[in-house]
Amino acid sequence: MLRYTLDRLRASNNLLECNREVDYNYEMGAVLKHFNNKMPILFNKVKNSNIRSVGGLYGNRDILFDLIGCTKEDRNYKFMEALVSPKPYKVVNTGPVKENIITRNIDIMKILPVNRFNELDSSNFITAGVMVIRDPETKRHFTSVRRMQVNRGNIISALIGSYKLTNDFLELEREGKSLDVAIVLGYDAQFLLASQYPSGTYGVDKYEIDSALRGEPLELVKCETNDILVPAYAEIVLEGRIVAGRRELEGPFGELMGYYGKQAPQPIIEIDCITHRNNPIYETAFPCEEEHLTNGLIREMELYFYLKNQISTIKDIYVTEGGGYRFNAVVSMKQTRLGEAKTAIIASLGLNKDLKQVVIVDDDVDIYNPREIEWAITTRAQASHDVVIIPGALGSSLEPSHDLRGVTDKIGIDATKPLNTDGRFERVRIPGYETIDIRKYFPNLEV
Ligand SMILES: Cc1cc2nc3c(=O)[nH]c(=O)nc-3n(C[C@H](O)[C@H](O)[C@H](O)COP(=O)(O)O)c2cc1C
Repeated sequence: MLRYTLDRLRASNNLLECNREVDYNYEMGAVLKHFNNKMPILFNKVKNSNIRSVGGLYGNRDILFDLIGCTKEDRNYKFMEALVSPKPYKVVNTGPVKENIITRNIDIMKILPVNRFNELDSSNFITAGVMVIRDPETKRHFTSVRRMQVNRGNIISALIGSYKLTNDFLELEREGKSLDVAIVLGYDAQFLLASQYPSGTYGVDKYEIDSALRGEPLELVKCETNDILVPAYAEIVLEGRIVAGRRELEGPFGELMGYYGKQAPQPIIEIDCITHRNNPIYETAFPCEEEHLTNGLIREMELYFYLKNQISTIKDIYVTEGGGYRFNAVVSMKQTRLGEAKTAIIASLGLNKDLKQVVIVDDDVDIYNPREIEWAITTRAQASHDVVIIPGALGSSLEPSHDLRGVTDKIGIDATKPLNTDGRFERVRIPGYETIDIRKYFPNLEV
C-alpha cells in the first residue's frame, strides 16, 4: 500500500523528502500548496509529533496513471472494467496495521499530526482519510474520502455529502442506533480511486472494485471494535461510530474551490480504537482543486461511456482541474453528422448535477491545454448559435456563484468547426516542426 507506493515514487524520482522540521499547523499546508498537490512530499520531521507525514501523493495525472498501471488512452476502459467485473478481496487474520492497538484515553491530536490549513478553518482537519462503512443490509463495503474536523479528544465531525451514506445513517438513527465506521490513512492509488466510484449509483462493493483495479485481491483484516474490514497494510486506522442523535458544529473550512464552506451542525464520530503500523506515516492532502483528481477521473469515465452510447466518435473527455475536477468538462470528438456536438452538450449537462460548463471541440484540439480550448472557442464558435444555456438547474453547493446554493445555470459551447468547410479551418503547419531538435541550434540552452 503506502510504503510500496513510496518505494515506487522514490524509484521514479517522484518523491521529495523534507528533512527540515515542519509545523503541521499551516506550515505543512503552505509547503504542499506550493506544489499544488502535484508533488508527493514525505515530511520526515514533524514539529511536536514523532510521526512522519506524507502529502501531495495523488494529484498529478502522470504519476497517478503510472501508479495505477494505466495510460491516458486506456484509462476509461480499465476503470469501467473494474466496475463491471469487480473481483473478490481476501480476508486475512492479521497484518501490519495491527502492530499497535490503542483503545484507551484516545486523544487524536496527541497521537496524530492532523493539519490545520487555512486561516479561518474551525479546527485541525483530517483531509485524506478514507471512511469505510459496511452496508447494514448487503454487508458490502463502501469507501469515500470525507473531510473530518477534530472537535476534541476522540470526537470528530465529518462532512458527508453522500445520499447513500446519509440515508444509511438516518435510517439507523431513527431506531436509535449508531453507524459503525473505520477511517483509513496511508493507502495506495487503487484504494483511493476505488473510493471515488459513486456508492449509491452502482452499489458495488468498493473493495471488489479495488481488487479489480489492482489485479489481485486486496488483503483485509477485521477491525478490533466492529465488523468492518480494513486494509491489512494501511498505516493507520481509526475505528468508531457515527453517533445517533448527536450533532456538533462543523466548519468553516477552506474547500476545494478556494472558498470557506460555512459552519453547520453535522453528525459526530466517536473514535473507540486506533490501530497503526510501527513508525506509521500520517497521510494528508492540502484541500484544493488538484486534490480531487481521482474524483474527476471517475466522472470522466462515466461521461465518456455515456456519450459514447450516442456518439461513437467521442475521442476523450477532460473534467478540468480549474473546475475542481467536477464542474467543467471539455469533450473532443470527430463530428461526422450535423447535430452531434449539440447532442454531446445535452448529454454532458444531464449526466450529473455538478457539471455546469461543457465545451465540445474537434479531435485536433488538445483538451488538456486551456490555451487550445480558448483558441477553439474563439475561432470556431459563434455565441448566437453555438451556445446553449439552461437556467436554474440542480447544481453543487460547493460553488457560490448562484444566489441559491445547490442551484446553477448550465452552459454548453459547441466549438467544433462546421462539417463541410471550404478550407477556412485548415490549421497552418510547418513541415518538420514536430521533429526539430532546438538544442542543435542553441547548444547551451536548457530545454
Ligand atoms: C480529496 C477528496 C475530498 C473529498 N471530500 C469530501 C467531503 O468532505 N465530503 C463528501 O461528502 N465527499 C467528499 N469527497 C467526495 C467523495 O469521497 C466521493 O463522492 C465518493 O465517491 C463517495 O461516494 P458517495 O458519495 O457516492 O458515497 C471527496 C473526494 C476527494 C477525492
